[in-house]
Amino acid sequence: MQANQYVYTFTYDDSEFELCQLESRHIFKKKVKHKLLFSDVKIEPSSSAFIKNRLDIITYATDYSELIGKVKEENIHSEGFKAEYLVLDGDTTNYADRLSKLKDVGWSIEGDPDYYNPSITYGLCYYKGVWYFGLLIKDTFDWYKHSKKPYSFSNSIGVNIAKALVNIATGGDEEKRLIDACCGVGTILLEACFAGIEIDGCDINWKACRDARKNLSHFDYPSTVFRSDIKDINKQYDAAILDLPYNLYSRSSDEDVLHIIKSSAELTNRLVIVSTSDITDFIESIGFEIADSCSVSKKGKNNFARKIWVCDKRLT
Ligand SMILES: C[S@@+](CC[C@H](N)C(=O)[O-])C[C@H]1O[C@@H](n2cnc3c(N)ncnc32)[C@H](O)[C@@H]1O
Repeated sequence: MQANQYVYTFTYDDSEFELCQLESRHIFKKKVKHKLLFSDVKIEPSSSAFIKNRLDIITYATDYSELIGKVKEENIHSEGFKAEYLVLDGDTTNYADRLSKLKDVGWSIEGDPDYYNPSITYGLCYYKGVWYFGLLIKDTFDWYKHSKKPYSFSNSIGVNIAKALVNIATGGDEEKRLIDACCGVGTILLEACFAGIEIDGCDINWKACRDARKNLSHFDYPSTVFRSDIKDINKQYDAAILDLPYNLYSRSSDEDVLHIIKSSAELTNRLVIVSTSDITDFIESIGFEIADSCSVSKKGKNNFARKIWVCDKRLT
């Protein structure tokens, strides 16, 4: 029987499967299996593009009637509540039965329900012989508002990747301080700020910096954006995120790439790098090692693959 505090459910498509697993390895130190995992790590579903729900387990039982008894024993009083059934892998309970079970839960809670505008949502689910009841916290999708940022750029990173990079860099620890070394118009900065992470941005291009600052102030986010070559930054951070320039819209040579990686490595012990080319030798040459990696292909464009590399300073 699972004794963890939280059940997480996930959503992703084939092109994002590896990225979701990489994110999960760094937040939960676990793999997502059958689009779910049990954990004691608490993270807001909205801070990841892949986490759909978090069930904060209140009680559980192998026997369904026992579970309902335990829910009653909790003496929950809540006005405007809603109960939802989460169908997890292997649960064959049919729709009518699920509805009837939700009614049982509803009758075990004091107060009037509100299906359309609930003040609180409870969840019921079944997994591998155990019934779980708890508080259901869903992805609010508030971060979708970032798609309406005033300034965008065709070279910008996708929002799902941006969120994952932040989570991989912090390992789910909100106290970690980050720098986005090549911030462009600030896609990654917006997602970090949304998740309450302290992050600075840096870009050598004045226009990118201006647009990143305007995007941040549009959402009232507090990040600082340095208009600078990353080599001239002299603060220290827990991790640096590098969405490297690639030869698609702007020219970048191997020397430019090595320069950015080397300069960023002066600021931190952890680099999370997005690159379209193999950077293994560069990482070796600066005294770092590759701790983890994954590939992400653009939806519908399998020939355009980016790789994400998690690199740690080698312990000598
Ligand atoms: C692929 S783009 C980053 C896009 C960004 N993630 C976004 O979503 O808008 C790479 C950026 O690196 C910046 N850049 C190139 N060399 C740099 C350097 N030495 N220091 C800082 N930024 C640099 C470029 O100006 C460009 O904006």
